[in-house]
Amino acid sequence: MDKKTIRDLEVTEKKVLVRVDFNVPLKDGKILNDTRMLKVLPTIKYLQEQRAKIILMTHLGRPKGTVVPEMSTKPLALRLSGLLEQEVLFAADCGGAESHKITREMRAGQVALLENLRFYPEEEENDPAFAKSLAALGDVYVNDAFGSAHRAHASTEGVTQYLPAVAGFLMEKEIYVLSQTLENPRHPFVVILGGAKVADKLFVIENLLKRADYLLIGGAMANTFLKAQGYDLGISKVETDKLALAEQLLEQAQKVRVKVVLPQDVVVAKEFAAEAEAKVVSVQDIPKEMMALDIGTATVQAFEQVIAQARMIVWNGPLGVYEFAQFAVGTNKIVEAVAAAPGKVVVGGGDVVAAVEKTGLGAKIYHISTGGGASLEFLGGKVLPGVAALLDK
Ligand code: 3PG
Repeated sequence: MDKKTIRDLEVTEKKVLVRVDFNVPLKDGKILNDTRMLKVLPTIKYLQEQRAKIILMTHLGRPKGTVVPEMSTKPLALRLSGLLEQEVLFAADCGGAESHKITREMRAGQVALLENLRFYPEEEENDPAFAKSLAALGDVYVNDAFGSAHRAHASTEGVTQYLPAVAGFLMEKEIYVLSQTLENPRHPFVVILGGAKVADKLFVIENLLKRADYLLIGGAMANTFLKAQGYDLGISKVETDKLALAEQLLEQAQKVRVKVVLPQDVVVAKEFAAEAEAKVVSVQDIPKEMMALDIGTATVQAFEQVIAQARMIVWNGPLGVYEFAQFAVGTNKIVEAVAAAPGKVVVGGGDVVAAVEKTGLGAKIYHISTGGGASLEFLGGKVLPGVAALLDK
């Protein structure tokens, strides 16, 4: 990576302001999954070893600039205390009187967490005065929030105007691995894309068509491609305004000799519901009153065959309606296939990561990205403002 990291900074006895992405799923105040917290521990522990004073800040959810008590980061401070086996201080503001008092009195090795950055509208507005008030809490700034690096907010971009800014270990690893997939992929390079909308992934497909050997498409976005090929999709979700674009992408893929594998069969039901009665049909035979909600068994097999030969695999987006167990089968089978594949596998995006964790096959995956939107934008060739703002080596 061409950006400076915490190894390049003197941090002993310094107040280090660290942007993390602790945007974890919460229900009734309980943390459902703390993977994003665990992944930042190496950075926190390194800073502790260096005897720094560590001030963490994160957003949680989308409170839209207002105080939403259920989205307070206080429970995260408690969980982090458990993970670090030491008390983590909690400051109920971001750059206000309380965070200033707490951070002024901190000792080397201590850790503090600020309240949810997004309780302040100035965070997402990237307001300079707010960024400056955050910067005033630290002597140096570390960004370890890869998951938020595609956002140009006060805590990811604005703050870098006022403090020396470098990457943490998680940020470094994410950028390293994802760059490898773009710049130096092993072939056959297989890209698996799913999710709801073609529109969201268009730029990713375009960028990866220059590099991939195979593109396996599932999820609702496959419907639009199938419709563009002339299939009757019944009452399936189709982006009718994107049909011409889907057709163009398929033509472009053919030109550059990327093999696009679309579903040949799908699981259909009459309604979008967990308990809906389902059956597998070929894409030629989708009944008029039914919708496609998962890839079918023949498609799973076709995907498995490609995956078994791959030397590099990148996967983003579920292949069916993952939130309903009976339509998560295709996604789960492909998790098993990629875990068993000899190639290097990189996965990103909430649903696919959840599927990997649920099957307990995470250890077989080369890299599980903590970024959903951020990893997608990176793969789409976009510059991430949170990364661009860091000091060059
Ligand atoms: C994520 O969960 O992808 C990141 O934390 C970014 O969250 P956001 O999409 O609300 O900016």
